[in-house]
Amino acid sequence: MPSALRIYIGSTAGATAGLCAWFVLGEFNIPWQAFLFFSLLVFLAESFCIDLPKAGAVSITFTIILAAMVLYGPALAALSSVFAAFVWRDMKRGTEPIRWIFNGSQYALSATAAGWTYIATGGVVLTEAGRGFNLMDFPFLLVPISLSVAAFFLTNTLLVSIAIGLAEKMRPLDVWLINVRWAIPNFFTLAPLGLAIAEIFMAAGYIGVVLFFAPVIGARQTFQVCKRRRGTDLGTIQSLIAALEAKDPYTRGHSERVAKLSEIIGKELKLGEEALETLRYAGVLHDIGKVGTARYILRKPGKLNEDELQRIRLHPEAGALILREVSFLSRVVPVIFHHHERYDGTGYIDGIAGDEIPYLARILTVADAYDAMTSPRPYRARLPKDAACQELVDCSGSHFDPKIVEAFLKAIDYSPQALDVPEGQLQFNEV
Ligand SMILES: [Fe+2]
Ligand SMILES: [Fe+2]
Repeated sequence: MPSALRIYIGSTAGATAGLCAWFVLGEFNIPWQAFLFFSLLVFLAESFCIDLPKAGAVSITFTIILAAMVLYGPALAALSSVFAAFVWRDMKRGTEPIRWIFNGSQYALSATAAGWTYIATGGVVLTEAGRGFNLMDFPFLLVPISLSVAAFFLTNTLLVSIAIGLAEKMRPLDVWLINVRWAIPNFFTLAPLGLAIAEIFMAAGYIGVVLFFAPVIGARQTFQVCKRRRGTDLGTIQSLIAALEAKDPYTRGHSERVAKLSEIIGKELKLGEEALETLRYAGVLHDIGKVGTARYILRKPGKLNEDELQRIRLHPEAGALILREVSFLSRVVPVIFHHHERYDGTGYIDGIAGDEIPYLARILTVADAYDAMTSPRPYRARLPKDAACQELVDCSGSHFDPKIVEAFLKAIDYSPQALDVPEGQLQFNEV
């Protein structure tokens, strides 16, 4: 860990310790029962965060801190926030204490900034005001609450961006723009949950808040179970890919490259994130059905005979059968099933043509063909990129969807006029 980062974390921890000492020893009259309750909630919220599918995690710790702030003011909110340092799985894994210290400190400093902004802009500490928080009060509290959420967000993301910047040797502003900016809507949509907790607390006390959280924890558990299942399914598929790569050395890297190329075409065609994800999975898995093809066929150095061709041509169907069992890959199945159809209807499995072929399958076909042509095969050397592009152009309308070839060539910045490849010289016999 760079020494600048150590000094930075040390300073935030020092500032937090100073603030906490002031809150505890000063004239703040901390209600200790409420402090213990909200500290426990912070600990639970931070420990039971939800992992995001790709990276990172979302927790509702901020909503608890917001509720504590509105109910009891900045001092109690900041003191409870320190408990965000203790995360159950970090404790189990034995993560370095410096990470715990930083997490607790940055939450406490952000809570303090939010609390002071709330009070300074006319926010009311509800338990002191001695009245229930109801919707009639809401418009009047809207400004201080919004400003305190903004203060929390800015302090929190600034402290984290500086830490990442020091660790990764990046400018904190760049870290903020790349990694943090997307969290803005998240903070503002979580804020009403914090207010709901405050209102429940005013109306029904501790028991009300506990009852409120029971279904939230239930939903979170269900989500985690689904995610774990998805992880297991992906693990199984990765072992299948590994088995295929061991059997057919020519597939090694091919699947990954087809996924990448399909995604490039998809982006050029302005597809949405869901379609791009389907393309990535389809690319990686498109030849998975070849696990069922005999090794001698996959590795045969010469041309395949009719019987061998028939057998290898079963792989799109076999792939679709394997993946049909995996629920979250249902959108990938038709793409794989049809990835050897041709635009003029002379392909396989179904021999369908034009727009009957699923759009994503037509994209995958172009990516697959380009990568197959530009990689060496047992029966021929690799084709130069320009020659492969020319082949795509020549087979536009027969083998490939012309719009997709056009998008691909545009995406890789290729201009067909620049080429002078004699027609009929190239052979493209991929199966
Ligand atoms: Fe294939
Ligand atoms: Fe392929």
